[in-house]
Amino acid sequence: RGLSQDFVPLKSRCIKGLADWILTSPCQRNIIVLAGAGASTAAGIPDFRSPGTGLYDNLQKYNLPTPESIFSLDYFRKAPDAFYELARDLWPGVQGYRPTLTHRFISTLDRKGRLLRCFTQNIDGLERLAGVPSERVVAAHGSFDTATCVRNGKSVPAEELRQAVLSGKEGPGGWQSLREKYGGLVKPDIVFFGENLPASFFKHRTLDFCKCQLLLVIGTSLSVYPFADLPREPPGSCIKVLMNREDISEFGFDISLLGDCDEHVQELVTRLGWQEVLKEMADSK
Ligand code: APR
Repeated sequence: RGLSQDFVPLKSRCIKGLADWILTSPCQRNIIVLAGAGASTAAGIPDFRSPGTGLYDNLQKYNLPTPESIFSLDYFRKAPDAFYELARDLWPGVQGYRPTLTHRFISTLDRKGRLLRCFTQNIDGLERLAGVPSERVVAAHGSFDTATCVRNGKSVPAEELRQAVLSGKEGPGGWQSLREKYGGLVKPDIVFFGENLPASFFKHRTLDFCKCQLLLVIGTSLSVYPFADLPREPPGSCIKVLMNREDISEFGFDISLLGDCDEHVQELVTRLGWQEVLKEMADSK
């Protein structure tokens, strides 16, 4: 039977309900965002696991034992070239990646006093570039902001490492000369498999989630622990929303908005009447 002309797709009803909740909830700073690589794909940065386009499907040229080896400390110590070459592309600012609509929405949540924290797995720095204050971002898998010698734990100026990585391996200023200078290989403080997450992750995991009344999980497969345990942290009264291309229902979301996160965000900010987000995005193009 044909649908009546006033039929509203369920997804739109969910987004309208979400917007009404955000507009009418009396509390401030009660929304937590969990972000993954899917929040940045619209910026041109591949995610990790999407079949065919994900980073892990496109590392053949490095002849790695496994794709994840590129973020393994043991492999880095043995053969650092692969990571350094990849880091040349990933380093924030080098490729000029710009925040997506989703990043700008997160920043607007902060500006409107609604964002408690954005826990991100991403190392692209786009949340901060979109204007989210650093104290509102937990970079759970680290960042390129600081660097460390993996042999002796000495801190190294990140800019010196960036220059070395961009200038290549050999010769003065290359990453090999940095190894001599600091007594071992120098790595940006992004979290490799097997390394500890930053202290801020554990601090905010303990302090924040009891205040969380709306959890937005955006663009992540929730494949990597302990980050993937976070959706279990909020109290039972918290509304948990997924915005993701693939369904990960095992995490018990109240609302699963499947598909492109920027499309869902566009409809949500329109329902919220936050036109400034759309204007900011249009102006940035
Ligand atoms: N809109 C919505 N979802 C998207 C979009 C998009 N535009 N693009 C991709 N996705 C979804 C994919 O379908 C996938 O479910 O985002 C998810 C990205 O998952 P992953 O590629 O596994 O990335 P992520 O979850 O961030 O990986 C976690 O794994 O390798 C480690 O440290 C690395 O931080 C990374 C962690």
